[in-house]
Amino acid sequence: MLDKNGLIAKFIEIYGGDASDVRIFSSPGRVNLIGEHTDYNGGFVFPAALSQCSTVAVRKTDSGLIRVAATDLPDRVSLDITKLGEYKDISWGNYQAGVAYVMQQAGYNIQSCDILYHDTVPFGAGLSSSAAIEVVMSLVLATFSYENGATDKPNMIELAKISQKAENTYCGVNCGIMDQFASAMGRKNHAIFLDCKDLSFKYVPLELKGYKVVIGNTNKKRSLAESKYNERRAQCEEALEQLKLAYPEAECLRDITAEQFENGKTLILDDLCRMRAEHVVYECDRVLKSVEALAEGDLRAFGSLMTASHISLRDLYEVTGTHLDVMVEESLKIEGCIGSRMTGAGFGGCTVSIVADSAVETFISEVGKNYEERTGIAPSFYVSEVGDGGREIL
Ligand code: GLA
Repeated sequence: MLDKNGLIAKFIEIYGGDASDVRIFSSPGRVNLIGEHTDYNGGFVFPAALSQCSTVAVRKTDSGLIRVAATDLPDRVSLDITKLGEYKDISWGNYQAGVAYVMQQAGYNIQSCDILYHDTVPFGAGLSSSAAIEVVMSLVLATFSYENGATDKPNMIELAKISQKAENTYCGVNCGIMDQFASAMGRKNHAIFLDCKDLSFKYVPLELKGYKVVIGNTNKKRSLAESKYNERRAQCEEALEQLKLAYPEAECLRDITAEQFENGKTLILDDLCRMRAEHVVYECDRVLKSVEALAEGDLRAFGSLMTASHISLRDLYEVTGTHLDVMVEESLKIEGCIGSRMTGAGFGGCTVSIVADSAVETFISEVGKNYEERTGIAPSFYVSEVGDGGREIL
């Protein structure tokens, strides 16, 4: 992994010049502990920022271009800042272009610059590599726009919203706010209890005495995830419309209590839509209970809620798939693993488990071996460190 000086040296190799005007910004990926597919239903989520980040070296220029390169890819793009709307279909660099475009539309002064990305969040693994890319891009451009006197000091919640908008409108993924919010607002050793209806939030110290958060990467790339994701979202909207016949005041599925859902569920005509809504309603409850359990230091209760979340995502929301299910099954067989679930959008990607300190080594070797035996794919594991949100590294 490159350190700050290594990244600057690489930057100079690509773009020339010297180190004096090169700056470094960084924004993390996230792991969601519980509260899945609730964010776009106005519900609760409980993510934490990771120490794996999208870090950039950047220098202002007067070329009229945003030139983007990455340390781990051969691709390079040059974005003309007068034509930012025209890069939707490029295969790499569209997240960056989308953010710049949305910011320009919102009145930011878009500064020409050269950027080198260095990403340590694994791609396509459900740990929000795209949010990390977007948030760091938005932070760079907002910082420069502020220095140019065009806009106020960067506001991280605003940048999370801009990044989400870019992903929705420019990249075609109808995602919620969780990933970008966690990437922008993360805090070391804390999880964020976020209410996605009004974006009120609370940092909760992640003190898992005697336990670690272990991320298991199935290394099964998500397939068709975007279309299935958008389909789930549409099914939730349909369920809400029908529930509104009984509960007209509900603005989103999160406004429906479990009791209301049970009384009104026959209004939802389509079986799949009913299952999706059931997941969302009960998942929101599980987040609230999880935050309570953690406050009381009841890790076992928290672990059980995580496992219940996985079962609901498997049976009702149907976004897990064989690889995630096998990894969770194998994880729960290990003594000392008190909870395990998929994290992120699903359809492949990662699991998150709570594992006793003393069992972490066995967990990694046994789950690794058994998962590989059953799926033919070697997994990866990360003992997660909870890091800070987007920032300039001075
Ligand atoms: C993806 C999306 C998020 C959220 C999760 C599922 O990570 O980007 O907005 O919906 O899936 O919880």
